[in-house]
Amino acid sequence: MQDIKIHIQNSDNTLTTLEAPTDMGLNLMEFLKGNDYDVMATCGGIALCATCHVEIVSGFDLLSEITNDELIMLDTLPNITDKSRLSCQLHLNNNLNNIVLRILGDGVV
Ligand code: FES
Repeated sequence: MQDIKIHIQNSDNTLTTLEAPTDMGLNLMEFLKGNDYDVMATCGGIALCATCHVEIVSGFDLLSEITNDELIMLDTLPNITDKSRLSCQLHLNNNLNNIVLRILGDGVV
């Protein structure tokens, strides 16, 4: 399987592009943490903390459907958008190729 490209929109609107493997069973949260992004992921990836919140700026429609558990967690966030996802619920696969995302965390500043 080929690597995919993940584009991360930085706070100054520049993009950082990372290559991500699709054959290691990783989810997007684990990948972002592994690349030193500030994702707390206090629940360990079971959709219970929402600190892995991202906005999918481009490519949202191609992603897996949001489960009820994910939606319930997202609804608790003050900075939810109509393209919000929990990155721990997105497994690295070809559907994520070339997505653009912003890391929003838990919205608490
Ligand atoms: S890591 Fe906790 S909800 Fe994703």
